[in-house]
Amino acid sequence: MEDSRGRVTKDGIRIYQDVDFAGMREAGRVAAEILDMVGPLVAPGVTTGSLDDFIREEIERRGVVSATIGYKGYQHASCISVNHVVCHGIPGSKVPGRSNDVLLAGDIINIDVTVIVDGWFGDTSRMYVAGTPKPFALRLINATHEGLMRGIAAVKPGNTFGDIGHAIQAYVEAQRLSVVRDFCGHGLGRVFHAPPNVLHYGRPGSGPKLEEGMIFTIEPMVNLGRPETKVLADDWTAITRDKSLSAQFEHSVGVTATGCEIFTLSPAGKFHPTWG
Ligand code: MF3
Ligand code: CO
Ligand code: CO
Repeated sequence: MEDSRGRVTKDGIRIYQDVDFAGMREAGRVAAEILDMVGPLVAPGVTTGSLDDFIREEIERRGVVSATIGYKGYQHASCISVNHVVCHGIPGSKVPGRSNDVLLAGDIINIDVTVIVDGWFGDTSRMYVAGTPKPFALRLINATHEGLMRGIAAVKPGNTFGDIGHAIQAYVEAQRLSVVRDFCGHGLGRVFHAPPNVLHYGRPGSGPKLEEGMIFTIEPMVNLGRPETKVLADDWTAITRDKSLSAQFEHSVGVTATGCEIFTLSPAGKFHPTWG
């Protein structure tokens, strides 16, 4: 299948061109810069609603567009997932198990931002800590970050999507942690969620072959306890069934001739909460 924007594989995965990578580079940079800016705001006593207000205002100030406001009825510029929230935590709503959205000392949170810049989607998330993390929380964060980076290291033409999932799963499970199965990464580009589903677990050699020009996210969610999740009555917030702590990191990447380009690297070098 060929059109003016290039080819789509038999698995429905679009193959992008150099000029498209330039668009993704810009969108990814903007998303990463915004995440760099929120870091210093995360502290005990701060509300998740105020963090989302900052992100929305920063998106407006830059004259770019939030991909999440209005997406399937979602009304916020970020997802903010505290402690045992796996993903899609709603900023400004009660932290599950609490009476408000105030962060407490030792909370670990994921902030996930997706912006649209000149039609291109930049999707990234990171972990932050309010105050000082407990050792087991830092261990979870470190392992989740390392799992993402091992998945990214498997991205090169000739490898498969199963190789990415396997690299993540093998590392995470060797740390006696679990990979969430109920949510996955996704193709993106000029759309938010496109084929394929990028699983964070799998068998080597399984799944579609990676080809130069593919663009997608890798966004593993890792739990201290069991992998099962459930979605709360708000229809968004996903939590661990066993209420164990969960962490996630997300990059948007594009496959190059020899490996991949990460579009959402932190310009300030602050992707991990213990950096910068
Ligand atoms: N950014 C999330 C992802 O990584 C999607 C959030 S959709 C929302 O795919 F509506 F919950 F914001
Ligand atoms: Co994503
Ligand atoms: Co995201």
